Amino acid sequence: MKILILNGPNLNMLGQREPEVYGRTTLLDLEQLTRERATELGVEIDFRQSNHEGELVSWIQQAKGQYQAIILNAAAYTHTSVALRDAISSVAIPTIEVHLSNIHAREEFRHKSFIAAVCQGQISGFGAQSYILALEAAVNINAHSN
Ligand code: DQA
Repeated sequence: MKILILNGPNLNMLGQREPEVYGRTTLLDLEQLTRERATELGVEIDFRQSNHEGELVSWIQQAKGQYQAIILNAAAYTHTSVALRDAISSVAIPTIEVHLSNIHAREEFRHKSFIAAVCQGQISGFGAQSYILALEAAVNINAHSN
């Protein structure tokens, strides 16, 4: 099984960015933690980050036929992007929405996710553990779809 893990804008700044919200874990730490769990689960992951909405859209489009699940932290685009929502719908690959912080416990504008309705589910608020939970969910979904 191959899983595509996509990270949106400003997540390259993790570790330095608002540590009181996002902690001190860097994106590289997050990738390493996720990779370790993926190895234990026997799945292959591709872990990417982009600050560009169109690049994220293209990666989702290109995932068709290549990956069995997508884990997406769309970051700020979660709350703005019809394009990402349409991309997820168009590839019909089970997609899991993840957030490090609990978006529902933060500012009102973060309560709305444009992608939630086209994702399998949402994991929000568990810090780095959100990615591990998403990985486990993706593996489970795949096991039950075969
Ligand atoms: C985030 C939450 C978003 O509201 C925010 O714009 C981010 C990160 C999270 O992982 O908690 O950049 O997706």
